[in-house]
Amino acid sequence: MTEHVLENETLIRTGAIRRHPPEAFDGMRKAGELAAACLDMISQHVSPGVTTEALDNRIREFVFDHHALSATIGYRGYRHASCISLNHVICHGIPSPKALKNGDILNIDVTVIVDGWHGDTSRMFFAGEPKVKARRLVETTYDAMMAGISVIRPGATLYDIGKAIQELAEAQGFSVVRDFCGHGLGEVFHDAPNVVHYAEYKDRLGGLHKAADTELLPGMFFTVEPMINEGKPDVKLLKDNWTAVSRDKSLSAQFEHSVGVTEDGVEIFTTSPGGLHQPPYL
Ligand code: MF3
Ligand code: CO
Ligand code: CO
Repeated sequence: MTEHVLENETLIRTGAIRRHPPEAFDGMRKAGELAAACLDMISQHVSPGVTTEALDNRIREFVFDHHALSATIGYRGYRHASCISLNHVICHGIPSPKALKNGDILNIDVTVIVDGWHGDTSRMFFAGEPKVKARRLVETTYDAMMAGISVIRPGATLYDIGKAIQELAEAQGFSVVRDFCGHGLGEVFHDAPNVVHYAEYKDRLGGLHKAADTELLPGMFFTVEPMINEGKPDVKLLKDNWTAVSRDKSLSAQFEHSVGVTEDGVEIFTTSPGGLHQPPYL
C-alpha cells in the first residue's frame, strides 16, 4: 500500500508515463467495452427532434444500470454523463434541452469507470441526412484516428501518431485542432502523456511546435481522439467555460478510442461490440 502511494507520487511529480502490468489490460478491456456498448446503445436514439439532454439521461441510466460510474459527473464541476458536441462545437458540448435538427452531425463522448479503470470513447453520429461535405469530414476524422492508432507499437513515438493523423486530415483539406489532445488514462482519467494529434505546426508568431519524440512502450495506456475542422484549427471557448467551438464556425468532428501498447503492437479497448464504428449506423 505504502509503496503504491509512493510510486504514484513519483509518477505525478515527474510526469513519467505509467507502464501497466499485463493484468491491467483486463481492467481496461472491461471499462472500454462498457463505454463502447453505451455508444452502441445511444446510436438507436439519435434522430431529429431528440434533445441532447434526453440522450445524456439515457447514457447516465445505462452506466448506472451496469453498476459503473460516470467519470465526467463531478469532474471539475461538470454535471453530465456525456459531452455532446454539435456541428461547429469541437468538444465538451454540454447536453441541453435543444432538439437535434435534420442534417446535424454530433460527437458523443462517454467515460465510464469500472472497477477503478477508465474507458473513454467518442463517435460521431448523424441526425437525419447531413450534407456531403459533413459526411466527408466525419469519414476523414475516423480514418485519421485509425491511421494514428495503426502506427502504435513499442519503439514508435508520439510524434509518429500525430504525423499519421495530420497527413491524412490535411490531404483532405481539413485542419487538426491543436488546443486539445489525447491523454494517458488507466486508474487516472487524465494522466501523462499528452497525445497531440499533429506532428508539427507554426503558430502566428512563427514559433515551431513539434510533437514529442517520446517512445511508446508496452503497458502504456492512452487515448487517441483527434478533432478535425472543416476550416481553420482555431478554437474559441464559450462563456460557460466548457463548450469549445471552431473560431470560424466551420464544422468539426472527433472520434476517440482508448488504447494500450502491447508487446508487439496496440490493443483498442473501446471497439464497438455491435460493429457500429462510424455513421451511418444502419
Ligand atoms: N471525455 C473527455 C475526454 O476525452 C473529457 C470530458 S471531461 C468533461 O478526455 F468534464 F468535460 F466531461
Ligand atoms: Co479522452
Ligand atoms: Co472522451
